[in-house]
Amino acid sequence: MQTIELGRSGLQVSRVAFGCMSTVPNPTYDGVADQQAIAAIRGALDHGINFFDTAPGYGNGASEELLGRALEGVRDQAIIANKISSQTMDAQEVRTECEKSLKLLRTDVMDLYQIHWPRGVVPLDETLKAMEKLVTDGKVRHLGVCNFGLEQLADGLGSGVPLVSNQIVYSLLARAVEIDVAPVCMENNMGLLCYSPLAQGLLAGKYANADEVPPERGRTRHFSKDRSQSRHNEPGCEEAAFAAIAGVRAVAERLGHSMADVSLAWLLHQPGVACVLAGASREDQVARNAAAADIALSAEDLAELDRVTAPVKAAMGPSLDMWATPSRIR
Ligand SMILES: NC(=O)c1ccc[n+]([C@@H]2O[C@H](COP(=O)([O-])OP(=O)(O)OC[C@H]3O[C@@H](n4cnc5c(N)ncnc54)[C@H](OP(=O)(O)O)[C@@H]3O)[C@@H](O)[C@H]2O)c1
Repeated sequence: MQTIELGRSGLQVSRVAFGCMSTVPNPTYDGVADQQAIAAIRGALDHGINFFDTAPGYGNGASEELLGRALEGVRDQAIIANKISSQTMDAQEVRTECEKSLKLLRTDVMDLYQIHWPRGVVPLDETLKAMEKLVTDGKVRHLGVCNFGLEQLADGLGSGVPLVSNQIVYSLLARAVEIDVAPVCMENNMGLLCYSPLAQGLLAGKYANADEVPPERGRTRHFSKDRSQSRHNEPGCEEAAFAAIAGVRAVAERLGHSMADVSLAWLLHQPGVACVLAGASREDQVARNAAAADIALSAEDLAELDRVTAPVKAAMGPSLDMWATPSRIR
């Protein structure tokens, strides 16, 4: 497994990371049995994955607790990325939430601590300075953000607090980050951590058509605002999305790989991308996702994947927010 330095942190993270959201019940996933999830996490280590991303929001602490349990005895082999997603993100909440997460994770220190979503309740500067204090106190090693657009990045970088990463939705079906956020992150040595790299299974070929996509995975702006769980006001672009999926499938078949492998490998070839945070509910998925890091795509393959997904990129527009209008990302 290739590793990469995350920003200028000195952390050497595996380019395929394990996203822990799908291991526990939450609004998108049903979750899996603890033993199955623990086997997937331990299996990830065996396959060279050393980077694990979780959040208090994934099952209200359940994902952190499960990750802590799974890493018992092997904590030193893992790099833990966690998030803060409290209501206000004021200094007091930052500290309280951090302490709670450390307990659930059964560790004294988190390697990367990220703002989950920009909230704008208190000034960003207050949140970041409180997070920086956690670094000084040895509770956290490095800081990052998630879902930050240009304005929020300018504010964050302007605070002077060192930020090593921006975790953002990025996949062959969600390419808005390429427009202007990726270049800014690259200029500022912030690694891109790509979440939902398989578009929650769409790019693994899990669904033959839009009607098969269950409501909880059909909340994104790819799908119509009329879907039961949608929080946006757009018509969606289901036709373009499934045409893109068919195009990715054709490339994958030609290359003799799975769609999931090709989708992850494509991301790992994109400028500024540090890691893909691939979710997985079973150990065999983890094994396949880890292997995707070794797939070399030619310039022609990359161009073909760009071409077949360009219409869905255009249809989704410049917003980095997959779920909501108005967007919370500025
Ligand atoms: N910062 C944020 O706001 C944010 C938001 C979303 C996600 N994230 C992070 O990103 C991680 C991943 O995102 P995600 O779960 O939304 O989407 P994802 O990684 O695109 O999709 C994960 C799902 O794809 C399926 N899958 C995975 N590997 C597969 C394979 N090799 N073959 C076939 N199917 C496969 C599994 O579905 P089944 O379970 O149905 O088998 C799995 O649960 C999360 O765990 C979380 O850490 C962050």
